Order: sequence, then C-alpha cells, then structure tokens
Amino acid sequence: MERHYAIAIDGPAASGKSTAAKGVSKILDFLYIDTGAMYRAFTLYMMEQGKDPKKEEDALLLLPSFEMSEDSKGHVYLFKEDVTKRVRERDVSALVSYACAYKAVREKMVEIQRAMAERNSVVMDGRDIGTVVLPHADLKIYQVASVKARAKRRYLENQEKGIPCSLKEIEEDIEKRDYIDSHRENSPLTKAEDAILLDTSEMTIQEEIETIVSLFRKKVGESWKDTEQSH
Ligand code: CDP
Ligand code: CDP
Repeated sequence: MERHYAIAIDGPAASGKSTAAKGVSKILDFLYIDTGAMYRAFTLYMMEQGKDPKKEEDALLLLPSFEMSEDSKGHVYLFKEDVTKRVRERDVSALVSYACAYKAVREKMVEIQRAMAERNSVVMDGRDIGTVVLPHADLKIYQVASVKARAKRRYLENQEKGIPCSLKEIEEDIEKRDYIDSHRENSPLTKAEDAILLDTSEMTIQEEIETIVSLFRKKVGESWKDTEQSH
C-alpha cells in the first residue's frame, strides 16, 4: 500500500496555520484540510436552521443531517452551497467555539478527518490535530503569534475580503476565542508533547512555509526521497 504522510498544524486563531498549510501542501503535493472550516460550517448550519449553537441539544438534533465538503482550492460547501466567505464572518466566529465543544460533534468531525488522512497525504490544520486526530503524524507543528500580530493579520485579511470590522473588536474576539478554546473540556487547544513550537509573529508567510517544508524533509529523510523518486 502506498505510504501516506501527514503534517499536523495546530495553534490559536490567526497564528498563520491555514496560510502555512496551504503553501506547504502545494509544495509537497499533499491534500490541505481545514478542520476549522468544518466546525464553522456546522455552526452556520445551526444558525440557518434557527438553532442555538450554545445549546447542546440543538447541536445533537442537527448533527445527523449535516453535510459539508471542501475542495482542493480551499472552498467550503454546506450541502451544495459555497459558504467559504460566509463561515469566516464575525457572527459565525463568535459562536463556533460553542458548537465545536460538544463531544458528539467532535467525534463526527474527527472521524471524517481521519478517513481523509487514511486515503491521502495531508496537511491538516486545527486545534487538536497533533493531539487527538492524528497522534502519529509525521510532523507536528504548534504555531503561535502574539495577539497584536494576529489581530493585525486578521484585520488586513477582512479588509481585503470586504468584511467590515475594527482592529479592537478583532483583538477582543481573538482573546475570547483563545480563552474558550484552551479551557473547554473536549480536546482543548494544547501543544502535543512532540510538536515543534513555531512563533510566527515576526515571520513572513514565505519563511513560515519554507521552515515547515524543511522540517518535514529533515524528519522523514530517506523515506520521503524514495517516494519522490518513484513518482
Ligand atoms: O482561522 P481561525 O484560527 O480563526 O479559526 P479556525 O481554524 O477556522 O477554527 C474555528 C474554530 O473552530 C476555533 O475557534 C476552534 O474553536 C474550532 N476548532 C476546533 O475546535 N478544532 C479544530 N480542529 C479546528 C477548529
Ligand atoms: O489559519 P489561521 O487562523 O491560524 O491563520 P491564517 O488564516 O493562516 O492567517 C491569518 C492572516 O495572517 C492571513 O491573512 C495571512 O495572510 C496572514 N499571515 C501573515 O501576515 N504572516 C504570516 N506569517 C502568516 C499569516
């Protein structure tokens, strides 16, 4: 059976995970999987159905009928609708930490994520990839960046996408989400013991991508070169 590789990238909001994961997956020709988008799509589904993401019974009611997908370009679909931009808006961001904390929700998402990693070489980003989803990943990165650096990045990103926001609001949102994400009961945001800590506050996107690719090549060494030559 063909050897599949996995790179796990975890860390708090706007630390640069998805930018790095996308870039790395392009260079290595791996599938990029944005696990945050799965939780965001479920949160949006609850909102659209008039349910309250803060209520577990509402989440359990909708979980069986939930269907989403991601394509290789990073587009996110809720049923057949493209919700890529919608799931990143402030109302969804404010509620996602609640909807994603329920055990049954996490179990369903983790199952989907593991199935994808079994069939493909993947770069997966999220919060619990190195600790829970793919504990045997070939390389685990735990990315951090200062709140200021992260808020500024998200602000510029929103401006570019035409999503209205203020820098102060974003800083508050990030701090709040960091707090909920690191204090919840199921799979809180923590660094896996064997994850490499990467502070991206002062790093450009290019530096971030190159660092991860070179760490991966070093880590898997000869076995990676063998696979490359057989292509
Ligand atoms: O991009 P950003 O870091 O703002 O968020 P995201 O990666 O899209 O994740 C959105 C939310 O989903 C996070 O605040 C986490 O609460 C949750 N999440 C999670 O619980 N587990 C994951 N593997 C990924 C995201
Ligand atoms: O996935 P996560 O929420 O961790 O962060 P992201 O969406 O990859 O990055 C948030 C924003 O920061 C994006 O607009 C990136 O372009 C930007 N960024 C940056 O300016 N410098 C970096 N080293 C990494 C990301």
